[in-house]
Amino acid sequence: MSIRTYKPRRGRVTPRQAAALDLRDGLLIDMDDAGFTLEGEWGGLPVIMEIGFGTGAATVEMAQQRLDLGLLAIDVHTPGIGDLLHRVRAAGLTNVRVMEADALEVLRAMIPEGSLAGYRLYFPDPWPKARHHKRRLVTPEHATLLGTRAKPSATWDLATDWAPYAEQMLDVLDAHPMWEGGVIARPSERPITRFEQTALDQGRAITDLRYVRTAD
Ligand SMILES: C[S@@+](CC[C@H](N)C(=O)[O-])C[C@H]1O[C@@H](n2cnc3c(N)ncnc32)[C@H](O)[C@@H]1O
Repeated sequence: MSIRTYKPRRGRVTPRQAAALDLRDGLLIDMDDAGFTLEGEWGGLPVIMEIGFGTGAATVEMAQQRLDLGLLAIDVHTPGIGDLLHRVRAAGLTNVRVMEADALEVLRAMIPEGSLAGYRLYFPDPWPKARHHKRRLVTPEHATLLGTRAKPSATWDLATDWAPYAEQMLDVLDAHPMWEGGVIARPSERPITRFEQTALDQGRAITDLRYVRTAD
């Protein structure tokens, strides 16, 4: 079994989150949905995968800004899934689909090669202890997995408040033949989440990076 990039958390599900999770209106995609296709869900829109959206506050704001993009938002944390489903419905958005799953498993099992227009990876778990570094999401192996599922010129946007992880992102992606890019100024379209605000309040600097899938 591959190493998990997240720590399983229990977390209480509120009645509002539970109601959002129970409603079966097609927004929540199951891992075993044999009929799932990008074309079927988004009718030909370019599709971006967001890995680890937390509460989904930024996800919804960014989806509202870009109705010309499909968004496949994935996290493993059940209360956050409920929050995002509620937010998407309250905003009346039709371009977002949500999955409660390990995004790496979704990529392996459900996403065809050369099909995604991009990725968003905002504040992935930093796994600061040396013995946990192997759990970080940005590794050469995962960069290859994301690379194979990406279209040429697909973008991979990353942000972190953990300077050593920013270094690792640069080391891994600069050396990877499928990706080229580097550090960028904070993109104006990326809203500040509660997670990011806490980091700023605690005096940590934020690093934004953008990589583009090279042509094969
Ligand atoms: C530190 S939080 C950041 C959340 C959000 N992006 C933000 O900026 O507030 C990292 C999130 O990534 C999720 N996560 C970690 N590994 C994941 C994976 N392999 N697939 C899906 N979600 C994952 C965690 O459950 C958590 O919600």
